[in-house]
Amino acid sequence: MNTIQIQDEQGVRIIRFNRPDKRNALDLNMYKQLTEYLIQGEADNTIRAFLIQGQSDCFTSGNDISDFIKHGNIGPNHPAVRFLFCLLELKKPVVAAVAGSAVGIGTTLLLHCDLVYADHSARFQLPFVNLALVPEAAASMLLPQLVGYQKAAELLLLGEPFDAKTAAELKLVNQVVESADLFEYAFSKAKRLADQPPEALQATRQLMRPNKSRVQHQMHQELEEFGNRLQSPEAKAKFAEFLSR
Ligand code: COA
Repeated sequence: MNTIQIQDEQGVRIIRFNRPDKRNALDLNMYKQLTEYLIQGEADNTIRAFLIQGQSDCFTSGNDISDFIKHGNIGPNHPAVRFLFCLLELKKPVVAAVAGSAVGIGTTLLLHCDLVYADHSARFQLPFVNLALVPEAAASMLLPQLVGYQKAAELLLLGEPFDAKTAAELKLVNQVVESADLFEYAFSKAKRLADQPPEALQATRQLMRPNKSRVQHQMHQELEEFGNRLQSPEAKAKFAEFLSR
């Protein structure tokens, strides 16, 4: 079974998380495939936009927690880190369609997407501190910028789940749509992006992201702290607690 599936349709590369038995928890191999499919898509002139989605009942439960134990060393070459930097570097636009749980990186990756659609079942959560970790994907900078410090503190320090309506109010999600329409609607928006003049679209995206080097810097800072936290007794105890539920 391919835990990451792709389908190229009308200029859109649809990338689907497909590990339903583990709620689409992302393991190292999945990150590697994601990065490879993004890099391939960037190089392919027939692909003009990406669409990232999970199943109708789960986007992704985030990083595979057992990998935090098995592969406790994290650095710039870690597959998850390479995936996040690759996402940041993309020239082509990215749309996400979220149904069900979007936990950890399932929420932080959305900060790097251009358009995000969710249905009413979507549940977002940033439980980094809950797991004795720190955020990644520059969420510690991008989220306060997006929603203000106090709201970001609520999301990142308390780490409680929030629903699609809240995510839309926070501007993390463009629009909440009916479950039956979600994937088709998100695809139609990705297709519209794919039909736009690509050079102007890509140039506009670049102009809209003037602080990319600041984002990269924050990601490196987070990475260093994340690596320290992974080795901490409090984090190891939290991982063991989750896995022995
Ligand atoms: N890493 C590893 N395994 C995970 C996982 C994760 N992030 N999320 C879920 N799983 C596994 C569970 O261990 C369980 O495996 P098992 O059937 O072999 O016991 C299976 O997926 C189903 O999970 P379950 O918790 O029973 O599903 P649920 O529908 O009740 O809840 C979630 C879904 C996403 C709310 C819940 O699984 C969860 O909170 N997961 C952890 C999220 C997390 O902390 N991610 C890391 C962020 S940095």
